[in-house]
Order: sequence, then C-alpha cells, then structure tokens
Amino acid sequence: MDSIKVFAPATVANVACGYDVLGFALDEIGDELIISKKETLGLTISAIYGSDLLSKDPNRNVITVATQALLNSLDEAPEFGFDFRLTKKVQPGSGLGSSASSSAAAVFGVNRLLGEPFSKTKLVQFAMQGEKLASGVPHADNVAPSLLGGFTLIRSYDPLDIIELDYPDELYATVVHPNIEIKTSDAKRMLKKQIELRDAIVQWGNLAGLIHGLAKEDFALIGRSLEDVIAEPIRGILIPGFEEAKKRSKKAGALGCSISGSGPSIFALSEGLQTAQKVAETFRSLFEEIGLESYQHVSAINPKGTEVIK
Ligand code: HSE
Repeated sequence: MDSIKVFAPATVANVACGYDVLGFALDEIGDELIISKKETLGLTISAIYGSDLLSKDPNRNVITVATQALLNSLDEAPEFGFDFRLTKKVQPGSGLGSSASSSAAAVFGVNRLLGEPFSKTKLVQFAMQGEKLASGVPHADNVAPSLLGGFTLIRSYDPLDIIELDYPDELYATVVHPNIEIKTSDAKRMLKKQIELRDAIVQWGNLAGLIHGLAKEDFALIGRSLEDVIAEPIRGILIPGFEEAKKRSKKAGALGCSISGSGPSIFALSEGLQTAQKVAETFRSLFEEIGLESYQHVSAINPKGTEVIK
C-alpha cells in the first residue's frame, strides 16, 4: 500500500469537569487526510484545503510534527518519505479539537502505511506532540478520543494511562460554534496556575460523578456532574451568549452544557436524539438574536475514532 485516506473526528475536550483529562469523539465532522509514500526522504505537505491559516512548513504544522515523533520512535527509519494532503473540516480555533484531528489522522495513517508497528493507544503520545506545537502543552484530551473514539479519560500523563470509558447509547451531543476564534494557547494562559482546595473538591466530586453516571447510564447523575468551577468561570466571559446558552439549553431538556475544549464552541449533552435536536434549535435562535453567525451539529458519540475511508 502506497497511499491511504483517513478520517479523524472532531472532539469535545474537558466535558465540563475534566480539564485536560476527559474528552469524547463526534461523528461526521473531522479532518480528512491523504497520506502517500514518496521516494525522497522527509515529510512534505503538498495541499491544505478548507483553511488558509495553517502552514505547510513541516516544522510548523501539527501533521508533520506528530509524524516526526512517531518516526523518531521506530527502531529503523523507513527508506522513503511521506506526503500529506489535508482537507480541514474542523476549523482551527473552534474548540472542537482541530489540531488534534489533524495530528490523529497523520499518525494513524502513517502507522498503517508502515505496517502498524504501534497500537492505536500508543499513537496518542505521538499525536500529543502536535498538540504541544499548537497550544504549548502536550495535552491528550482531544487526541485520545479522536484516535480511539468514545469517551476517554487520561488517568495519568506520566506514565500515560488512557482509559476508554463506558457510556450510554442514548447519549447525544449538541455543539454550537459561534463564528469567533479563540486560540487554545491564549485560553490556557488565562487560567490560574493554582486552584483553591474548595474548588478542587467540587471538581473531583463532579468528575467521579460524571464517570459513574456514564457507566451506570444514570442521566440525572450525568446532568448533576456537568459543572466546571475551574476553567469555565474564567473562559466563559470570552464567549458571547454563553450563560444564556447554558440556561436555555437546560430549559430545552439538556442534561448540562459547558465550553467545548477551550471554546468558543459550546456543547450540551442530552438523553435522546430529539432533545439534542431541540437544543440545537435553541442554540441557533440564540445566536441569531445575538447577531453572531453560528454552526450547530447534533451527534451521537462516535465509537470508532480515526479510520480509513475511501
Ligand atoms: N483541555 C484543553 C484546554 C482542550 O481546555 O485547554 C483544548 O481544546
């Protein structure tokens, strides 16, 4: 096999109470990447469709940086290089794991073309190097669900320990992307380096509650646990209409609502597709009132993660 086309899904990171440790994969939206072996050594990006913001310089694009991390871990370097053609369907700065989708697609596809020397779980640590380039921090809460699908928990970063979580089939996500851009690196710098013990107690209670609620399919517990007292109070002010979106989505039946990753996208979780669609309509009319262009997406939790497509 000399060429492969892969899809890596967009993701919602943090999921309210799991800053930098929890995330889930969305269906349908994500990046597509064609990877081809080439005779000359080295990595090249010959095309990027769907975004003018990204560099084709191999030192400045997450695709090539993540791939280089993978190649550096091989016992023997391949006698060929790789070329990448990327179609961006997750906008950079949207809060839907744009850089993670590209990094996940790259390491997954290159690993396949090399005969799968690494497991999918192992690929997370290479894709994290793409996140380091994009945001300054090698966080895994977008790349892990983008690669593995479902809900993933980063139980530990050192050593890396990724847990694939159980979740109810009837859980649906609604995401809205108001058309503004927030750089993850800026949104990370905004946060306090230290937190109060009383906030930590609330946060870890909620994180444990959310994971138990997901496993037991206890929707009421999921709803009670979707609360973030650490990042959301600081970042929420950057997103016009955020507090109103929370209020109205819950009134429409959502279990809970918070910022997707570092924003500006907002996500809500609901029991059942119908409620999730009602929440999408609530988001649409809110941003229309505010006068801000927005894009809504209703999604089941994507169980597959990154995959080969035709
Ligand atoms: N956990 C990261 C953050 C996700 O909130 O900064 C960025 O998409």
